[in-house]
Amino acid sequence: MNKDLRKAVIAGNWKMNKNPEQTKILLGEVAPLVANAKCDVVACVPFLDLPAALEAAKGTNIQIGAQNCHWEESGAYTGEIAANMLTSIGVTYVIIGHSERRTYFGETDETVNKRIRAALNAGLTVILCVGETLEQREQGITEELVALQTKIALLGVTKEELSRVIIAYEPIWAIGTGRTATAEQAGEVCGAIRKVIAALYDKQAAEAFTIQYGGSMNAKNADELLTQTDVDGGLIGGASLKAADFAEIIRAATEG
Ligand code: 13P
Repeated sequence: MNKDLRKAVIAGNWKMNKNPEQTKILLGEVAPLVANAKCDVVACVPFLDLPAALEAAKGTNIQIGAQNCHWEESGAYTGEIAANMLTSIGVTYVIIGHSERRTYFGETDETVNKRIRAALNAGLTVILCVGETLEQREQGITEELVALQTKIALLGVTKEELSRVIIAYEPIWAIGTGRTATAEQAGEVCGAIRKVIAALYDKQAAEAFTIQYGGSMNAKNADELLTQTDVDGGLIGGASLKAADFAEIIRAATEG
């Protein structure tokens, strides 16, 4: 497996933080620090902040993403946003299937699949999140579970479309807890995901496929996590809200 065959992507998931004014300030701080990044840099912000983020990211190497989208193009879906609404304003990335959406908002593998297909149809690049609970890890079913999540999420996704999909392996027990997976644990599961991609598509598609780790990744542990052969980037929550920390992770990805 050759890491050079794939794109490193560091994405911030701001979750439900920052208003439009604060968005401009934070991106204004981040932009000069990451201007020379050799990896792709993405900020996934709340829907309300998207126009401000797009404006602030103009002329920089930062791409802007949303944190979800609906599977229909329009209709009676109160509170939802369609994928084509996102592309209409210049959004290029979307996170789908984050564990917080699965846990608090009833997202299932089936709705994740529907949202992914809509996002790809609209031209977005998808960051698909998969990951296990602590209980599932202790039961020894992590790899099976993550394989199942991956397979269902990618139903009907062609090999050509796969070039616009990234998977973020996010162990639920590591999210926002300060408890990071060890580099070995992260590498192992990311490697297992790559095998699933090879089985679903082929070896070449698997080697070119970007897999991120997410879950308490920070300026201190990023280096070690990103040196794992199968870890090609990160999906960063808390640390993406601090410009210097986010920039440090991007530096680690570039050198990792
Ligand atoms: P933290 O980096 O805050 O643990 O969040 C990870 C995450 O959920 C990114 O999507």
